[in-house]
Amino acid sequence: MKYLKIAAVAFALLAGGMNVEAENPENDWVTIQNGKMWKDLDGKDVQAHGAGFLKVGDTWYMIGEDRSNKWRPDVNMYSSKDLKNWKFERKIIKNGKTHPDLGDKRMIERPKLLYCPKTGKYVVWCHWEASDYSASEAGVFVSDTVNGEYKFHSGSRPLGVKSRDCNVFVDDDGTAYFISTIEENQHLGLFKLSDDYLEAVEYTELFRGMSREAPAIVKVDGTYYMLSSACTGWDPNPCMMSYSKSLTEGWSPLEQIGDDIAFDTQAASILKIEGTKGTVYLYVGDRWMDPDLPESKTIMFPISFGNNKCRFEYFDSFDLNVKTGEVENLTRSNRENMFKQTKKVIKRIVEK
Ligand code: DGJ
Repeated sequence: MKYLKIAAVAFALLAGGMNVEAENPENDWVTIQNGKMWKDLDGKDVQAHGAGFLKVGDTWYMIGEDRSNKWRPDVNMYSSKDLKNWKFERKIIKNGKTHPDLGDKRMIERPKLLYCPKTGKYVVWCHWEASDYSASEAGVFVSDTVNGEYKFHSGSRPLGVKSRDCNVFVDDDGTAYFISTIEENQHLGLFKLSDDYLEAVEYTELFRGMSREAPAIVKVDGTYYMLSSACTGWDPNPCMMSYSKSLTEGWSPLEQIGDDIAFDTQAASILKIEGTKGTVYLYVGDRWMDPDLPESKTIMFPISFGNNKCRFEYFDSFDLNVKTGEVENLTRSNRENMFKQTKKVIKRIVEK
């Protein structure tokens, strides 16, 4: 049906000599296919693991770990208007260049991107780590332009707290937070940031003793929802959801969503796509070590929130229209993926 519509529109456009971009809403639909390496517009593998996103105007910027050389990840930036066609912008943070320790003594994981309205600067927060994960620090980098070269601002334990897996969240009032796995993976730390988004100024311990990592927060209709995983290295484990009316207290007990290995993913980001016809939320996760670190896949699928619940269901592919905020043609797991996931569940049970 969709193809008939496309053909009809194409014919009408050719006959009338109209502007295709402006008149053909079908152009705004893209198909997101999971389970394969994403390719950039040059046909190269997209290397943006543990991805963070920022929308500037009508363009989405994605940053993430370039794991092509495994343990010395640079930070790559890509841009896209439809979340499918990604243009490689540049390496915004480079080993040995952005900071002398980066590459040999330090590595970056889970870089996340913020725009600070007060200073007009773009800020990256990330996990700033030693190869044996003993540093447990957060890194902060700043740039005047979104796709510029980011300068090192600091690398330290926020407010003296050991900090690892991380994410950022900006509330409706513009207050930004850094959330990370703290004190040797015991708790989560919610760090309120200064107005310039460069320093942690306050922190609250959440999920005490529950060893959560890969946190990702979204606010939907006045309720905060947080997804997180357990700490099992690069192996997948269940995604848990919790909700609260306040960021600093009242989080509900953790509740498993999805299957026992989060469909072989670990959360990186939750995107809110506000379109002309509605709002859709997209889960972005990493399918690590698939089979090795550089081939870890970025996985994206629509999720929904409401009434203190999260619908978290894997789709192999779906059609997305970021302009209208719609998804359609959600296609479930194929046999090959089901088989791969079952094998991983069995492996985890055997290892327990
Ligand atoms: C899981 C984390 O989420 C990743 O970012 C990475 O730190 C690995 N653990 C390392 O084992």
